Amino acid sequence: MSVAQQVFLRDAMRRLNLTRDVFSARIGVKRRALDTWLLPEGSQEFRSMPDVVGRFVTEIMDNDLLLRKYAQSTQSGPLRDRIAVDGKHQLLSVDQFSRESVEELFRIADLMQPIARRRKVSRVLEGAVLGNLFFEASTRTRVSFGAAFCRLGGSVCDTTGFTFSSMAKGESIYDTSRVMSGYVDAMVVRHPDRGSVAEFARATNIPVVNGGDGPGEHPSQALLDLYTILTEFSRLGKLLDGAHIAMVGDLKYGRTVHSLIKLLALYRGLKFTLVAPRGLEMPNDILEQVGRNGGHVIEQAGSLEEGLSGGVDVIYATRVQKERFAAEELEGYTLDFQVNKAIIDKCCGPDVVIMHPLPRDSRPGANDLSVDLNHDSRLAIFRQTDNGIPVRMAIFAVLLGVEGLVQHSLRDVTWNPPSHVGPDDSVFHGLD
Ligand code: NCD
Repeated sequence: MSVAQQVFLRDAMRRLNLTRDVFSARIGVKRRALDTWLLPEGSQEFRSMPDVVGRFVTEIMDNDLLLRKYAQSTQSGPLRDRIAVDGKHQLLSVDQFSRESVEELFRIADLMQPIARRRKVSRVLEGAVLGNLFFEASTRTRVSFGAAFCRLGGSVCDTTGFTFSSMAKGESIYDTSRVMSGYVDAMVVRHPDRGSVAEFARATNIPVVNGGDGPGEHPSQALLDLYTILTEFSRLGKLLDGAHIAMVGDLKYGRTVHSLIKLLALYRGLKFTLVAPRGLEMPNDILEQVGRNGGHVIEQAGSLEEGLSGGVDVIYATRVQKERFAAEELEGYTLDFQVNKAIIDKCCGPDVVIMHPLPRDSRPGANDLSVDLNHDSRLAIFRQTDNGIPVRMAIFAVLLGVEGLVQHSLRDVTWNPPSHVGPDDSVFHGLD
């Protein structure tokens, strides 16, 4: 019951976009009382929330939903038409989103949580087939897109690498895309060249999702990253507007940060601190785009300690994308750039959120995000990967136009999943 109570209250604050202070004032209770309702049941201070408060919060959320529905009906049509590319239902770049449309996608992702958390099943995509075309290395993006499609009742066909595809025989992107379109109902494509997935998308009318186009973009990763930040902030009682985000590592070739910084720029008054070794700084065109959105401050720091000293809300670490440049171009990705327990304890507070798109390079000398934070609940990387499922389910549901069918399609699961899927998961990571 306590987890359900915590989840319920956090979800309410996130949906209403209210901090703990404002939320407690809105429902007419003392901030201290709210804090005790949000504690884990095991803790001494924990209190049960009175039923009448729960009913009142539900009423506020229902009213808010009605207002949003009204606001949506005054916008034009379904989400997939509003984010379409040249009239096609495809996801190629985060530039397709506004703050309203991204938050609408996240409400659909919330709907998917009972399925992603293995409490419910749905078959709304029964009969549909996904083509997962990965011409670059991938574990989580390929599998989580596949699992998301399967959890909505669809099936998946995979092809991995150039070696085992007809591209090794000289087949063009146009031919590959058109051929696949005759076989499958949607495609996720990852390819080492910037712009290549857009080329796939132009050669077909079926939904195409960009699973990473070289150093270009990785929109689904940025969406799940933003969803994670909003979820973590709601647990911590923070708002994203005005937050301080540090991005660390290879900001030049890391496509996840290219997409994420543009998506975050849809919010107001953020401070970005960018910490990159010389030669791996964020490209200027992206900085200019973020700057145009107004109200944001962007600072570049030469070292991690300098970058984190101002008190950050989120640290987003990245791997050096060695596969994208010659080794001699890399100078100075030294231990000073490593996000580890010592630097976090020295420079950050108890509610910093530490993220990474993964994989982290755990080989000696790589100086990527350290494993010594594995037992630290500030490390959100596995909550982040778990969020890949509901967000990717929402992407498919929207692109294939079935999001309105999900709620009424839910059935209970027949098997019994563990309440925590990882042995080190924090209390607040539990399934409700
Ligand atoms: C990232 C990617 O492929 O861009 N991984 C992922 O999809 N989660 C980051 C990386 O490879 O470093």
